[in-house]
Amino acid sequence: MNREPQTLGDGTFQRLERILVARGMNPKVLPDIAEEPECLTSLGVLEAGMPPRYRMARADHPEVLAWVRDVTEQAAAPNPGARRQITTGPSLLMAGVTGAGKTHQAYGAVRALVEAGIAVRWRATTAADLYADLRPRPGHDTERELAAVSRYPLLILDDLGAAKASEWVEEITYRLINKRYNLMLPTLITTNLAMRDLRDHLGDRVASRLAEMTTRVVFEPIDRRRQRHTT
Ligand SMILES: Nc1ncnc2c1ncn2[C@@H]1O[C@H](COP(=O)(O)OP(=O)(O)O)[C@@H](O)[C@H]1O
Ligand SMILES: [Mg+2]
Repeated sequence: MNREPQTLGDGTFQRLERILVARGMNPKVLPDIAEEPECLTSLGVLEAGMPPRYRMARADHPEVLAWVRDVTEQAAAPNPGARRQITTGPSLLMAGVTGAGKTHQAYGAVRALVEAGIAVRWRATTAADLYADLRPRPGHDTERELAAVSRYPLLILDDLGAAKASEWVEEITYRLINKRYNLMLPTLITTNLAMRDLRDHLGDRVASRLAEMTTRVVFEPIDRRRQRHTT
């Protein structure tokens, strides 16, 4: 028998949701598709996965703490008795000069979520490293890698706009940001650029989504790295 391919309508998703709810599962928690077992259960495991420089970082910026509260409030357990996980939530665009403390606040925010009892599956990358990882090359399924990064419940995307611009960079950034925008997954983005310059660098499609999905946090223009050596 020849069957027409069928698309899944809203009704299918509603039926699926009812089945999940009947089984005591929360349909709002995305299924875990990544292969790495990075569901964090303790602060020790968290610290081991952090770069030494930011291992002890604590978030103290009021807007970052407000973000931690928002994401914590929206966290939900996949089934009764399980630890709460990130579902959906707002994102932050932390802008400021080099050394202002943006990356410190981003890692500190992950720590704060874990301290709040949330099981956080997260990944941190600079935009430049991500582009290097996603360059098509033999033996690497870079499409799969992009799909995985796009779906991490929490992503730190550090130094957006610092890599050399190109059509390819713009396209990859668009696909990543658009996926996370659609899934409403919290993303902590840091950048040295002003929004206007980000738009020039990465295009209007990226800038427009960032404008909607992120709260802008502007850091004091102080380079803490230099300050430490002069005071
Ligand atoms: N709130 C803070 N308390 C203590 N040290 C900090 C704080 N914020 C940043 N630092 C330190 O200042 C330096 C620059 O911070 P970093 O987050 O790397 O800046 P940026 O990402 O904005 O370039 C790092 O050595 C970092 O550990
Ligand atoms: Mg930084």
